[in-house]
Formats: sequence, C-alpha cells, structure tokens
Amino acid sequence: MGHQKSRTNANWTVLSEIGPSPAWSGVALLSEKSSITSAARSIELDRRALTILRQNEWGGYTLPTRGLYPYQWNWDSMFVALGFAEFDLERAWTEVETLFEGQWANGMAAHIVFRKDDPSYFPGPSIWQAEGSELPTSGCSQPPVASSVVRDLYEKDPAVGQEYLEKLFPKLMAWHRWFHTMRVISGGAAIAVTHPWESGRDNSPDWDAALANVDPTGIATYTRRDTGHVDAAMRPTSAEYDRYLKLVEYGRQTGWDHAHITREGPFAVADPGVTFILMRADRDLKALALVLGKEGSAREIETWLYHSEEAADYLWCEELGAYAARDLRTDQPATGVSSVAFLSYYAGMSVPRRDAKLQHTLRRILNTAPYSLPSFDPEHSRFDSRRYWRGPAWAVVNFLAARGLAEYGFAAKAERIRGDTRRMIQKSGFFEYFDPLTGAGAGGDNFAWTAAMWLCWASPTTDVS
Ligand code: DGY
Repeated sequence: MGHQKSRTNANWTVLSEIGPSPAWSGVALLSEKSSITSAARSIELDRRALTILRQNEWGGYTLPTRGLYPYQWNWDSMFVALGFAEFDLERAWTEVETLFEGQWANGMAAHIVFRKDDPSYFPGPSIWQAEGSELPTSGCSQPPVASSVVRDLYEKDPAVGQEYLEKLFPKLMAWHRWFHTMRVISGGAAIAVTHPWESGRDNSPDWDAALANVDPTGIATYTRRDTGHVDAAMRPTSAEYDRYLKLVEYGRQTGWDHAHITREGPFAVADPGVTFILMRADRDLKALALVLGKEGSAREIETWLYHSEEAADYLWCEELGAYAARDLRTDQPATGVSSVAFLSYYAGMSVPRRDAKLQHTLRRILNTAPYSLPSFDPEHSRFDSRRYWRGPAWAVVNFLAARGLAEYGFAAKAERIRGDTRRMIQKSGFFEYFDPLTGAGAGGDNFAWTAAMWLCWASPTTDVS
C-alpha cells in the first residue's frame, strides 16, 4: 500500500526548533507576510494537536477526551495511533497493544475497555457485566480499523514494526473472524451491528426505524452523564438512550451470546460503515499475512473477501443512489444517505454500473454542505447540523472517505474533503465533530482523534503528496 503519508522530518525540525514559545525567526525567510501568518498558525495547531494527544494519554492508552469519555474506546484509539505515529512510532504501537489487552476469548475487540469504574461515565462496567475478557469491557465491538492502522504503522518502519506485528497478527485475525461469523446473518454477507454503539455512529438516522421497533419498557431507571459534559442538543435523545440501555440489558441477559444476539436480538442492521471498514481491513490484513509468510491466513481472509460484492449488492439502494444501512429484521433500507456510503472506495469496491450515480450523490451533498462531509444528507428532513451523527462532519470519516476517493482517482473531491477538515479545525479547534453548515465545533473539546487526524492528514505541514 505504502500510502500512509508522513510529516517530513523538516516539518518536525521546525516544530522542535521553535520549542514551546512562538519564536518565529526560523521561518522569517518566508517573503509573504500572509504566508508567514498561515505557516505560523499551522505550526501552532501542530503543537496544540500534539499537546492534546499527550494530555489525553492515560498510561499506554489514550482517552478520547477527558470528562465525557474516561476510558479506552476502540476506533478512537486506533485513529489516535496514527497521530502518535507522526512523532512517536513506538507509542503508536503501544496504543494498539493496550486495546487488545481487552480482547475477548471469542475474538471480539470490545468497543470500550474500562479497566476502572469512573462515575463520570454511564453506562460503566457494572451495567454491561461483560465477562468475555480478563479486563472489564463493554459487550459489543466497534468499526474495525485496527488492521488498516497496523499496516500503516508497519509500513512507516518495518524494522520497528516487525515484532509488534508478529504479536498482534493472530489477535487481528481472531477479531476479523469474530465479525465474519458472529455478525453475519446466515445467507448474508453484509456485516450487522446489533447495537447503534457498535457502528460508532450512535444516533445516525440509519438506525431510526430499527430502534423504533425496540420496546424500552421495563428498563431500570438511570442517570445520563454525557449531557452533564456536553449540550444535550448535540447528543442523542432520551428516547434513543432508553433503547440503547434496553439493548445492553438484552445482551447482558443472554450472557453476551453474540451469535444469539445477532440472530434473535431486537436490533440487527447491516451497516455500510462497518462492512466497508472491515472489507478494507481484510485487504490490509491479507497484505500483512503475506509479509509474515502466513499463506494459510491469507487464504482464510480471501474467503471473507470473496463475499464483498454480495455484501455491497445488498447495501446498494438504487433509489438513494448510494449504499445504505438495511434493517435485517424487516429488510428495509435507510431513508437517507450517510457519509459512510462513500467508504465503498476505501473498501476497494468500485462497481462501474453504480459509480456515476454514487458520484452524483456525493457531488450533490458536497454542494449543499460548505464544510464536508456531513454525516447525514443535509437535504433530508432528519438532518440536524449539530446533533452528533445526524449531520455533523467528523474528521475520521473524512480521512477514510478521502483516502478511498484519492485511491480511485477522485483527487479533487478527496482534496475538497481534506481542505474542509483543515478549515473546520483552523476555524474552531479540535472538537469532536463540526457543524457542516458553519464549521463550528460541537461535542467534546480537545478531542484526541481530531488532533490525530490533523497531525497525520489535515495539517498543511503533513506531506500527503
Ligand atoms: C457514548 O457513550 O456516547 C459512546 O458513543 C458510546 O460508545
């Protein structure tokens, strides 16, 4: 692949030379005053991003942000590793290793590794009662970006990465195998999520219809903590939270029997986000298998990839002109377009008979959002520009989408998304997500994955040529 671009050493020389105080003599040779200002601003943001990663570190893992999210979250942590890799490659590998300390005996890498009980977060380990691993964790998973991140880290420096890769490879295989067996309904190929939290896109309209069929009657009374940290208008509603809790209660009652939950549980939706991310991760894991000379594993991964087209066919919605989530209990597709629809390229999936339509949909959405990529179609009645996954733009999805688009030759769209990510951060700082209409920051501040995406991709000082 070799496409994980890195900051040039020269950039970091500048950054380290200027030290903690803004002394600009090192860049005074730049002739235009405006270039000096913008170079100074970029380097200042580089420094802030680096500080955010360091300040959110908690031993060998990193909190998404202090207060709102006091534990290790799965895909947050993996994106954060890409940020660390820009200045401390060993630390990046440690982030991956600590995530897998919470891996379940059945292969699942959990969406949260708790390690401790922090009353500032709900629902904590005593609510989940998940005992699949030696560490307390949640009972579901999250989008499996880890293998793709591991490939990036390895390719940055194979000599540093070899030993880490050898240790992590069987763990990654076990996790992918878990998805391909536990989260596929017999006869299907698209990957199901059995809790909106598993998708990472908690309150996306993609789940509205399926969630409406979850009856929350009888859940124990509870107090939300998230709305004590962040404006409730930027978070899921209470009706959604009740159902999130009901699904946790259901899983707990089954003893976290994942096969049963997928087959029989109250919520199972085929998710283009997880499906495409896993498809990419499978390809990356296969490349890593070949690096390690593990032909048998590579062949097993091929059997998973064999079903890719079938999965994409199931998720394609001609009426929307895009890939869409689909409720596995009712077979109904979502009613609107989410940003993850465009991860098909990232997945390595380009279907000529659909591409013109998909590109047309993307163009329409880019034209309606001054700051791409809105997590949900701004022209849809359920769009809400500041409410979490119902509209806001997220740096991590932008990174994945742009990467795939660039790989398939849609360079202008990829650059547009990267440029918008940069402008949102320059305008508002390192927020959890951004209003795609105004670029205003929303959700948690000093957010680790936004800082990481700045460092590895969005900063003008990062070489992505
Ligand atoms: C939360 O608590 O809001 C998280 O998104 C769950 O993963």
